[in-house]
Amino acid sequence: MALSVIILAAGQGTRMCSQIPKVLHPLAGKALLQHVLDSIAPLKVNCYIVHGHEGAQVQAQIQDPNIYWVEQAKQLGTGHAVQQALPQIDAADQVLILYGDVPLIPTSSLEALLEAQSAADLALLTVDLDNPRGYGRIVRDDKAQVSAIIEEKDADAEIKRIKEVNTGILAARASDLKQHIAKLKNDNAQGEYYLTDVIALAAHAGQNISSLKAECPEHVAGVNDRVQLANLERYYQLQQAQALMRQGVSMADPNRVDIRGTVTTGQDNRFDINVILEGKVTLGSRVSIGANSIIRNSELGDGVVVHPNSVIENAVIAEHCEIGPFARIRPDTVLAAQVKVGNFVEIKKSKIAKGSKINHLSYIGDTTMGSGVNIGAGTITCNYDGAFKHQTIIGDDVFVGSDTQLVAPVTVEKGATIGAGTTVTRDIEADKLVISRLPQKSISGWQRPRKNKS
Ligand code: UD1
Ligand code: CA
Repeated sequence: MALSVIILAAGQGTRMCSQIPKVLHPLAGKALLQHVLDSIAPLKVNCYIVHGHEGAQVQAQIQDPNIYWVEQAKQLGTGHAVQQALPQIDAADQVLILYGDVPLIPTSSLEALLEAQSAADLALLTVDLDNPRGYGRIVRDDKAQVSAIIEEKDADAEIKRIKEVNTGILAARASDLKQHIAKLKNDNAQGEYYLTDVIALAAHAGQNISSLKAECPEHVAGVNDRVQLANLERYYQLQQAQALMRQGVSMADPNRVDIRGTVTTGQDNRFDINVILEGKVTLGSRVSIGANSIIRNSELGDGVVVHPNSVIENAVIAEHCEIGPFARIRPDTVLAAQVKVGNFVEIKKSKIAKGSKINHLSYIGDTTMGSGVNIGAGTITCNYDGAFKHQTIIGDDVFVGSDTQLVAPVTVEKGATIGAGTTVTRDIEADKLVISRLPQKSISGWQRPRKNKS
């Protein structure tokens, strides 16, 4: 028996007030629909996504050759949506129905639901809500068996008091669904073909309907507007922060850390407030990340200290480096151990060997730098001629005086010293002193211009 998943994503998402299809709005940096796809990924399924008119945009972003895209040209209801996918699904399959705008459903809940379905005919995921308004209510018979789902708009006062609601997520045999869905009618308050009417049809046919409660409302919460999206984002971020704390990260405030990707961490790391980690971030142990720092797709070794307001992207930073405050490490930068990068320093596509220091106000791009180098304040590698990028090579133990320009391509051999204010346009041999400053002049009796005060 194969497993087919139908993800309903054809709704317009009117309440988002957006040009972007709702299921493409990001939660923790990832499209809502992608969260759902990631939840089912371990289950090995045939996946059918029912999309509406913005289908092309969704397909362009979610590029997955294993997805079957099914168009529902008119949104006539959830039952009608499922009906669009069913003809392509083998009658012998087990079917799981999910929603493209319910992003945080855990794989484990789906596994439990599928198991419950196998032991019964149909399995429903429900949840108890203090405020059940707007949801379909779960109606049970005198033996506490689920007998129907009644939508809010079709409910009387007594039904409305029921706090157990339909999450929309259910599992059934394809053969049963095909039969029940063919019988759906739209004679209800919304004039729609409700998937939920399948429950009463199954109960009528004497089928065994099993139900499971979601672990918490957030796991089954849908996103209809940006307020709900933001609430779910905060919930999810706190969960991730807590998971990292349980692995040995201390946080000044777990409510002010955002993770938009996956983080691997060692022990005794510390995050100050407003740290943002994006993509794949790997941290060693005893790493300290200062306030307002952003780290994206990077690796930080043991004991690395990132001072506040630094931005690090696609970089590998070895143990005991010190970065910032206000440093920007751009893609393809590799720092060996104990490198120091200070304030207002930008480094791009450069390899810097052990213990070198670039402490103040510098730009180092397309550079290979040896170990023990000292780069003075205001040093610039002039790597771009307007058309091409050029390399700068700096040997071990070079000393670069402040306010130096290195016009690439250029090589400074090991041990060389460059005087402050030098513009280097030719290669420098090992251990030489190079200086290109104009000699200093003194002029006596100099009168500064004055404004006439009368
Ligand atoms: C639905 C359920 C309700 C449940 C609630 C949970 C029905 C009739 N009602 O109500 O019992 O408590 O979800 O959130 O099923 N969609 C389509 N095509 C359509 C209509 C909807 O693809 O023609 C998709 C939407 O994109 C959305 C999902 O189905 O992802 C749910 O549709 P929505 O209209 O939001 O249903 P609710 O009224 O919230
Ligand atoms: Ca809804």
